Amino acid sequence: MSNSNSSDTNTDKPWAGRFTSPTDAFVEAFTASVGFDKRMYRQDIAGSIAHAKMLSLVGVLTDEECEAIIEGLKDIRLEIERDEFAWSTVLEDVHMNIEARLTDRIGITGKKLHTGRSRNDQVATDIRLYMRDQIVEVNTVLTRLITGLLELAEKEADTIMPGFTHLQTAQPVTFGHHLLAWCEMLLRDQGRLADCQKRVDVMPLGAAALAGTTYPIDRYYTAELLGFGAVAENSLDAVSDRDFAIEFLAFASTLMMHLSRFSEELILWSSAQFDFVDLGDSFCTGSSIMPQKKNPDVPELVRGKTGRIYGHLISLLTLMKGQPLAYNKDNQEDKEPLFDTIDNVKGCLRLYADMMPQIEVKRDNMREAARSGFSTATDLADYLVRNGVAFRDAHEIVGKAVRYGVDNKKDLSEMSLEELQQFSDVIEAGVFEVLTLEGSVAARDHIGGTAPKQVRAAIKRVADRIISITAPDLSTL
Ligand code: ARG
Repeated sequence: MSNSNSSDTNTDKPWAGRFTSPTDAFVEAFTASVGFDKRMYRQDIAGSIAHAKMLSLVGVLTDEECEAIIEGLKDIRLEIERDEFAWSTVLEDVHMNIEARLTDRIGITGKKLHTGRSRNDQVATDIRLYMRDQIVEVNTVLTRLITGLLELAEKEADTIMPGFTHLQTAQPVTFGHHLLAWCEMLLRDQGRLADCQKRVDVMPLGAAALAGTTYPIDRYYTAELLGFGAVAENSLDAVSDRDFAIEFLAFASTLMMHLSRFSEELILWSSAQFDFVDLGDSFCTGSSIMPQKKNPDVPELVRGKTGRIYGHLISLLTLMKGQPLAYNKDNQEDKEPLFDTIDNVKGCLRLYADMMPQIEVKRDNMREAARSGFSTATDLADYLVRNGVAFRDAHEIVGKAVRYGVDNKKDLSEMSLEELQQFSDVIEAGVFEVLTLEGSVAARDHIGGTAPKQVRAAIKRVADRIISITAPDLSTL
């Protein structure tokens, strides 16, 4: 650290004027947010550069002052990026740390930057800018996961597995179809994320502390520089609104609920009892005592992290529920749950995206499980209906055939024609076509059905429905 912020004494705090005695040291540490909000330094500097440009456009700053401020801010950005910036808790947060350092570097002009602005609209702007970038990052890795699932679905379009209801074998489905169900969930999540981005993309700057400012500011110009789609229409709401963060946490909670459901299936499927998949050694760990173990740690941990993300959603909802307008210090508590959510969601998505190509599918085991579980019983009932039997009667006939199969340890397709005919005389040799697993899945040949042909068509449609989200690049500002 090559510099130290000169405002490191209490009386040098930007707001020290009104105070006669120093802040208690513990209060200072307790109220500081720089430990976690410094991650928004790039957004804070971009916001300040845009604000300075706007102030010079409307004549509040001279061109020279504006240039000095921008130069100073860019140098500070470099200092931070080189890890040469001395962050100070005395200076509370990222905003005051950067502002104080600016004054250190360029003198009195630095003190003019905060004209017509407050930390209240500044922090609300920083969070939105930060989220705008993070939403793009989350979406990139979410897209990578969906694409990985599609590739696997393509390979497994013909693979037959048991479909379950109540975790009991129900009807055969294709594994590709099962994977596409996951894609549907993730596409909805992507829609929620893109929708959240619309609410994030609104600029609070100009609201100042709460009521707006007496300077002749041009908020549309600042918004244009920062690439915001809109300016916040009400200053009181602008500084206190955190709905967009709650929306993000609601998106994240739903996404994690989905990832947790995938996890649950992968954990079951990789057990010796199911043995449908092998997750790949790099995503599992062993046991220090039981040599045979290969534990599905990644899905387990993703399932576990879901609880913490739900907690963050409830934190933020609770944080907001009791607050009168406008800004309250409570709002500082928005960041840690939000940042932790962003980090963990990106981590979980990355692991899942990396894991997809590594999954080894044990097709024979899947098939065997579908074959031995009377999974074509509904197909036999449908066959009887096609041959004139009422559905309820057909249901009962097949029930008896299954009972016979259980007692004699035979699946329906393993029974002879004579055995089957004991239950109904409409049954003929053609019945074996519907009792095969291939016949069963191929017959569900409509949009949304499990037939391999439909799965292949659905894969193409999913690929077309993937949403891309972009955000303006502020690094050149
Ligand atoms: N660190 C504060 C936060 O995160 C910045 C805004 C402070 N505003 C104030 N009036 N104390 O919310």
